[in-house]
Amino acid sequence: MSPDLEVLKKEAAIRAVSLIESGMHLGLGTGSTAKYAIEELGRKVAAGELSNLTCVATSQASDVLARSLGLDVGPLTPQAFDIAIDGADEIAPNLDLIKGLGGALVREKLVEVQAKRLIIIADHTKLVQTLGQKAPLPIEVLPFGVDSTLERLKGLGAVGELRRQSGELYITDNGNLIFDARFAGQDLAELERTLKGTLGVVETGLFLNMAERAFVAAPEGVREVVR
Ligand code: A5P
Repeated sequence: MSPDLEVLKKEAAIRAVSLIESGMHLGLGTGSTAKYAIEELGRKVAAGELSNLTCVATSQASDVLARSLGLDVGPLTPQAFDIAIDGADEIAPNLDLIKGLGGALVREKLVEVQAKRLIIIADHTKLVQTLGQKAPLPIEVLPFGVDSTLERLKGLGAVGELRRQSGELYITDNGNLIFDARFAGQDLAELERTLKGTLGVVETGLFLNMAERAFVAAPEGVREVVR
């Protein structure tokens, strides 16, 4: 990843963390951009600028990072989050998102659906006119009977493959697999409903009508996009 993009991701993360106040209950995202937000939260807590935060992490990696920085991380309960901060793989103009290239889509959706405010942080390369323009749609599927599930997905028009890492099938924090899919010209709300009704599918990386705003960093500055 280019160092310039890393600088931009950090700028977006710092803008989002400026919304956090002491005493808040927070959802912590996953990925290379969310990592900067967790680090900034840790820095502010260590500096005494924030206190009494409680957090829930969307992946084991974010959990480990947050705890290492002294953040108070607990299990997911029905308590609403004041704010959740996370990255995204694609951001449409209406702030619909594709997420899950980092593999944490199920826990991200479980946490972020409970957020009063979901704040997305990204560099400008994540902006698209239409979801699916660049990124595949990650779909988490159960390992049991995966070939049957893939047949069902292909029957719906999906083209794609099971994700691999270093040649091996990628396994999520939940012990499942990810099918990275492409669909041609489908209505996204309809697609989401259809996928959620497909046997063997655990969750999709479509995050529709969830994000409140995005901080999108570009070389000319951080742009705030509001739904
Ligand atoms: C994790 O599963 C994802 O949803 C990430 O939030 C998304 O992939 C963005 O990651 P980066 O910030 O690393 O691009």
